[in-house]
Amino acid sequence: MRLSRVRAALRMLALTVPPIRRLLADRERLLAENRLLRDAGATPSSAPDSHVGRLCGVVDPTHYLDADWLALHHDLERYSIDKHCFQGSSGEIYRKGWEWTHCLFGLRRLGMLQPGHRALGVGAGRECVIFYLASCIASVTATDLYGEAAWSADRGREADPALVEESKRQCPPELDLSRIVFENQDGTALDYPPDSFDFAWSLSSIEHFGGHAAARKAVGEMARVVRPGGIVAIATEMLLLEEYSHPEYFTPSEIVSELVTPFANLALVDPIDFHTLPYEYLVDSITVPSGADRRRRHVVLNDGRFQWTSIMLFVRVLT
Ligand SMILES: C[S@@+](CC[C@H](N)C(=O)[O-])C[C@H]1O[C@@H](n2cnc3c(N)ncnc32)[C@H](O)[C@@H]1O
Repeated sequence: MRLSRVRAALRMLALTVPPIRRLLADRERLLAENRLLRDAGATPSSAPDSHVGRLCGVVDPTHYLDADWLALHHDLERYSIDKHCFQGSSGEIYRKGWEWTHCLFGLRRLGMLQPGHRALGVGAGRECVIFYLASCIASVTATDLYGEAAWSADRGREADPALVEESKRQCPPELDLSRIVFENQDGTALDYPPDSFDFAWSLSSIEHFGGHAAARKAVGEMARVVRPGGIVAIATEMLLLEEYSHPEYFTPSEIVSELVTPFANLALVDPIDFHTLPYEYLVDSITVPSGADRRRRHVVLNDGRFQWTSIMLFVRVLT
């Protein structure tokens, strides 16, 4: 009784501080938004308490309502130097944090996170997925054009060897880094024999390999080096509107015609869910580059001409 009165008094006191008041209001609004989404049954569920239906699809904010998915998201944050991509107390949703988490969630659901498994990351940079995987499988080969000027000095410096080293230092101390090798490899011409890996992943990278044909080649390469029965997990950037065309990003129909149907030895693990983004995310897009630091709904990007977001595909290599 006394404790609840103290709590109520503290809350009243906190409410007099404008930034805290804003934070609480924001949180309340997000929780209400989440409740609305849940009540609307925005995503078909595969289990009674799951908010993750199909694995293949566009960024889905309802995944953050799923207890297992969210637990993985928070666990993964321990392996990342990019803390801003993870959900904090005001409920931010960041496209990159979704990609990394959903990739691991899908691989886990598909039975790929086994102690004896070998994984290949393509255009992997210094992303937290590399390090997280090393905590649960036998070996991780992370490949990229490490040291390449454009990706080491500019943008997010994803291929900067100095940031790879910093990422290693930030990992939980018990992580066995000897399970990871970093190699310089062009994703369109991988230097590994067939069946070298149990699964491969590549997140928002193949579209930067030199256009649609190069991206397609990279998918073919991953399919070649993964054993039959294994999985290739790919996130790429998708234009929201079919009427545009872009040298790197794919329209919804190109996702299928360029990255799925050309490969007779690959099969999607489930149909692609293209319509997961609620109204708020569509209208509240991030204008790049000026709005890049906005955090609340960092999901749809907009450069004044194109609007795009991430899509994630999981395909099985057929025998
Ligand atoms: C947008 S970053 C994504 C990095 C990482 N996957 C992540 O999610 O943080 C794209 C990455 O693709 C890499 N890249 C570009 N061209 C490549 C190629 N031909 N082969 C392999 N990696 C390439 C870049 O160096 C960069 O690290």
